[in-house]
Amino acid sequence: MSSKFGLLEKLEFLQSWASVLIANINPAIIHNLEKYYALKKVHYLSTIEEIDGDYLEFGVFTGSSFCHSIRCCKKLAKLNSKILNTTFYGFDSFAGFGDLKEDDKHPFYTDKNFATKLPTVTRRVQRVASNIQFKLVPGFFSDSLKNGANQLSSVVT
Ligand SMILES: C[S@@+](CC[C@H](N)C(=O)[O-])C[C@H]1O[C@@H](n2cnc3c(N)ncnc32)[C@H](O)[C@@H]1O
Repeated sequence: MSSKFGLLEKLEFLQSWASVLIANINPAIIHNLEKYYALKKVHYLSTIEEIDGDYLEFGVFTGSSFCHSIRCCKKLAKLNSKILNTTFYGFDSFAGFGDLKEDDKHPFYTDKNFATKLPTVTRRVQRVASNIQFKLVPGFFSDSLKNGANQLSSVVT
């Protein structure tokens, strides 16, 4: 009796080939590609659904996902030019995670691994943003977010 997978079942080497390939790719590359796909989908759906609003990112680090979001927005403007009115806000301490409770400490997510410099990130974003409005808000969330969303209109550059 033939199996419901037919010829595919006999091509086990194809599964092994794909598995070997994926197992060998640096996981950071996969992580970033998946992050980029997810963000692109968010911006695509917001664009075609004509959802107005701004973009807020909590934890910008070197600006990789922030810049990617701006890039997606610029590319998608051909479907709906109104999205060029989006303002991109990025919040980060630019000094890592700050004081953490013992339970929240993590061997990889440490201040040392995630310290960045606001001027460096700003330059990176400027190169991508051109006519897109953005604002990087430095400081720990407990300070930068304590006045809620109403403060945002006053922090745009
Ligand atoms: C995993 S990284 C973000 C990566 C980034 N979204 C990307 O994909 O390119 C997390 C960032 O959150 C910031 N962060 C963590 N806790 C914070 C806090 N309480 N206040 C401000 N920034 C914080 C860290 O400084 C770090 O840059």
